[in-house]
Order: sequence, then C-alpha cells, then structure tokens
Amino acid sequence: MRLYVDSADVKQIAHLVEYFPIAGVTTNPSILVKEKRPYLAVLKDIREIIGEDRELFVQTLGETADEMAEEARFIISKLPGKTIVKIPVTEEAIKAMKMLAQEKIPVLGTAIYTPFQAVMAAKAGAKYVAPYVNRMDNLNGNGVKVVSEIAKLFSIYHLKTEILAASFKNIQQAMDVCLAGAEALTLSPDFIGKLVSYPATVNDIKDFKAQWTAQFGSAHSVLGNYGEV
Ligand code: E4P
Repeated sequence: MRLYVDSADVKQIAHLVEYFPIAGVTTNPSILVKEKRPYLAVLKDIREIIGEDRELFVQTLGETADEMAEEARFIISKLPGKTIVKIPVTEEAIKAMKMLAQEKIPVLGTAIYTPFQAVMAAKAGAKYVAPYVNRMDNLNGNGVKVVSEIAKLFSIYHLKTEILAASFKNIQQAMDVCLAGAEALTLSPDFIGKLVSYPATVNDIKDFKAQWTAQFGSAHSVLGNYGEV
C-alpha cells in the first residue's frame, strides 16, 4: 500500500514527509486555490520538500483533448522529477490520455465514479486511476464496491494501471479500499495522523512508564537507569 498526502499545505507536507512513509503528494484545483498564492510557486515548494523521487500530482483544467495535452506538457516542463498529470475522466480526457501515452507523459485518470471510466482510462494508457470513494457514497453509491470492481476488472484484463483511491470521510473507508485491492490511497493530513493514533495505545504507554518508574525511579528511558547493581 502506498500512501499519498492530499494537500498543498507545505508545512503539513513537510511534517508528514518527516514522520510517515509518504509516496508523494496529490493536488487538485480546489486544494491549490486554498493556498491563496500562485499555484506554480506552491507546487515548486512542494517539489522541493518531497524531492524528485516522490510523485507529485497536478490536475489539468482544459476541456478539449488538445487543451488537456497542452497543459500536461506545461506541467511536466515546469516541475522536474516524478510529476504525474491528473485528468478528470471524460471522452476528451480519454483522447488526451492516448496522446500523452504516446509522449510517455504519466497520467492519472481522476474523478472516477464507475468501473468503466477506470477501464477506459487504463486502456487509454493511464498509469493510475482515482476513484472518488466518499463522493460516490454521498451519491447513494458504494465507493468501496466500485474500487473492488475496478480491481477485479484490471485483474481479468491484465491491466497494469494502479488504483490510487481518493476522497475519504473516515478511516474505515480507507481500510476497506485497501482490502478491496487499491494499490494506493491519498488522504488529507488529518487522516494520516489518525492511521496511527489510538487512545488505548496512549494509555498503555502511560501504564508502562508508571510501572517502570515505580521500580527504577523517575528515569523515563531505558537509557536512564539499567537497574544494575
Ligand atoms: C484527490 O486528489 C481528490 O481530488 C480528492 O481526494 C477529493 O477528495 P474530497 O472528495 O474530499 O474533496
């Protein structure tokens, strides 16, 4: 399972990259406008923090295949390193994906709500597809089921495209898509912290420390007091 940060907040990204096994950063137009400064400067800052080996995802806004392809080339030219172009899956997007596959520009098909959108993007050469799990659930759909169906279809048709599941409201959805076969998921910074925080663990640590201190005094580390005689 690979984990991506769904944010353009450079402070939070720097923190998460230091603490967690982060494979890269995904952005979209809504995420970038929240930063309230020129988007290319934000993306360059993110690239500097994550380095050239982690993936950085940037979305196009064009409506036609030619516009999408032109934006994709621009994004790739401005952001060296492993940069992936996100394109919301429409008919024009499928055409753009075929064009970009010829040019070896890596693409993620995004805003996916149905298994066939994912299969068409994969057949057109997309490296990744991003099903929108919680947004499907909000439409009375079943995001986890769609991820599972995409995984099954990719397996039946031997498609190498990976599922990078996106849009989550809770950790249960995230775990369910992992079990359903998603290779990767992108989570907002708050959720990434929640993958490891659990109140019972904090209580256990308190108990361990109290027992240790009762025996060996106030030293809070195994380095502080070996209990040797
Ligand atoms: C990924 O980059 C998607 O755009 C994002 O995960 C959507 O999440 P949301 O539904 O919480 O906005």
